[in-house]
Amino acid sequence: MCGIVGYIGHREAWPLVIKGLKRLEYRGYDSAGIALINNDGLNIYKKAGKVQELENFAEGKNLSGTIGIGHTRWATHGAPSDRNSHPHTSHSGDLSIIHNGIIENYATLKEMLISKGHEFNSDTDTEVLIHLIEEIYKEENIDLLEAVRLALHEVSGAYAIVVMDEAKPDQLIAARKGSPMVIGVGQGEYFIASDATPIVEYTKNVIYLNDNEIAFLKRDELMIKRLDNVVQTPYIQELNLKLEMLEKGGYDHFMLKEIYEQPRSVRDCLRGRIYPNEGRVQLGGISEFAHKLKNVDRIIIVACGTSWHAGLVGEYLIEEYSRIPVEVEYASEFRYRNPIITEKDVVIAISQSGETADTMAAIEMAKEKGATIFGVCNVVGASIPRLTHAGAYTHAGPEIGVASTKAFTAQVTVLTLIAFHLAQQKGTLTSSKLTELLTELDNIPQKIEKALQSEGLIKEISAKFKDSRNCLFLGRGSGFPVALEGALKLKEISYIHAEGYPAAEMKHGPIALIDEEMPVVVIATKNSSYEKVISNIQEVKARKGIVLAIVTEGDTEVRKMADYCIEIPDASEAFLPLLATIPLQLLSYHIAVMRGCNVDQPRNLAKSVTVE
Ligand code: F6R
Repeated sequence: MCGIVGYIGHREAWPLVIKGLKRLEYRGYDSAGIALINNDGLNIYKKAGKVQELENFAEGKNLSGTIGIGHTRWATHGAPSDRNSHPHTSHSGDLSIIHNGIIENYATLKEMLISKGHEFNSDTDTEVLIHLIEEIYKEENIDLLEAVRLALHEVSGAYAIVVMDEAKPDQLIAARKGSPMVIGVGQGEYFIASDATPIVEYTKNVIYLNDNEIAFLKRDELMIKRLDNVVQTPYIQELNLKLEMLEKGGYDHFMLKEIYEQPRSVRDCLRGRIYPNEGRVQLGGISEFAHKLKNVDRIIIVACGTSWHAGLVGEYLIEEYSRIPVEVEYASEFRYRNPIITEKDVVIAISQSGETADTMAAIEMAKEKGATIFGVCNVVGASIPRLTHAGAYTHAGPEIGVASTKAFTAQVTVLTLIAFHLAQQKGTLTSSKLTELLTELDNIPQKIEKALQSEGLIKEISAKFKDSRNCLFLGRGSGFPVALEGALKLKEISYIHAEGYPAAEMKHGPIALIDEEMPVVVIATKNSSYEKVISNIQEVKARKGIVLAIVTEGDTEVRKMADYCIEIPDASEAFLPLLATIPLQLLSYHIAVMRGCNVDQPRNLAKSVTVE
């Protein structure tokens, strides 16, 4: 939530910061703003709405300057408006700040600052922080770095901030706690951003700032210290990110590109991890915990949203193949309900962004109680992989569309590998069965490719469903989380109300909703619950519901009763979620496009939910 960009160097800052904000717009698009220092002093341009509106607004103005900070906002404190947009300034107007995160004790600090004569121009917590820094900076013999350091001791909450002083156009000060921040190291220049995407075309050398660290940047100098004043040696890493990964590559939307990337992303996720001929799975990250995992009494999976749906698929797979009990928890509920956790527990935290506040808090709580934490994340170097004891990256590559697609299938792939790894450890799968399953898994990317070929038909069906006001998604077994995920995709990008249900639960309530206007999407592939699902379809048809069924290729039974069928390749039940999800992603995508919705940036959402 919220994206930040900073630059100090020899280039013009405005175009670089604007471009960076566009790359980070997935993090929030309520408003955008940039502050620059040039011959006119400090210039701030900010506007409610998207970065494009800021660009239009600033046209013809003085945009020169080789130092600047920019922000794209997902509103927390204060409505989206010009005045609540970042950058914010101090009382004197000399200092400016951009901030991603939340200052939890801002109300108390604001009261204290008002009593000292400070006046505020916005409703934000961020403005309070820059006034606090100013208040400390006023004291004698304190430089800005020290003022920021001392101020950060006074605040509770999360932040990634960059502070700029009009009187010192040769320095930036950045700090982080709980919100991400990357520093790009160039020749006589430094870049700061919430993630590496605004930086990648200028330098591959980056430093991931750690929590409680503060950086002092000049054009040719960088110093990092901890908030307790101990100077740190910066660790420069090479970025493994290509520019083309951040572009639409001929697709109309990032979401569609990412849907089509799934054969590759699943393949990347499997690479070097499965050895079908030897009937062996190798997951480097968890090997050192193999003994613990083998003897674990239960596994708790924590996650939010789509990642939680992947967790439900994981529950099905781990219990089925390794016979270890699994509980799947919404991180936001788990963290607040004093759950029973012991040193014997293993917690798997799933997160695409690796920054979700609730998931991070759940990890911290479980860690305090002695559990071993295993992370399944996509963004390399994000906060969650640093918080966990071990983990496996999903290797899906950058996911820019706000609605998660390829990250979900990559998460499911990693969870499949974990399930097989555990089964291998515990001997709950014979090696011939494991060989058979791994051989099939190795072939899943080709089957995803085949599933994508139904796009034309899906588009036609989308045209029939696009004006629906509600939609039900039903599935059984591992088809149930797929139904939940299908419903979430549809509602978040097309704003059609949609619910996912276990197919058998329908008759306990939702069946009352069914009439001739209600589309019901049913996961009806050939697996252990096929016959039962057929009965559920009949129940829908008996009430005149419109049935769209996801079926195994060659199916004839369901075809007799469903209004529309989309085929997916035949596969073992274990791999059904990886295939059945594909047509549902395409369905929601096309419906949303037909309804004129902003597919990549749905209203009110942000990709990285760093507030609870
Ligand atoms: C939906 C979606 C969200 C995320 C959720 C968790 O398409 O993307 O529901 O899955 O916000 O985010 P991560 O996985 O980054 O922790």
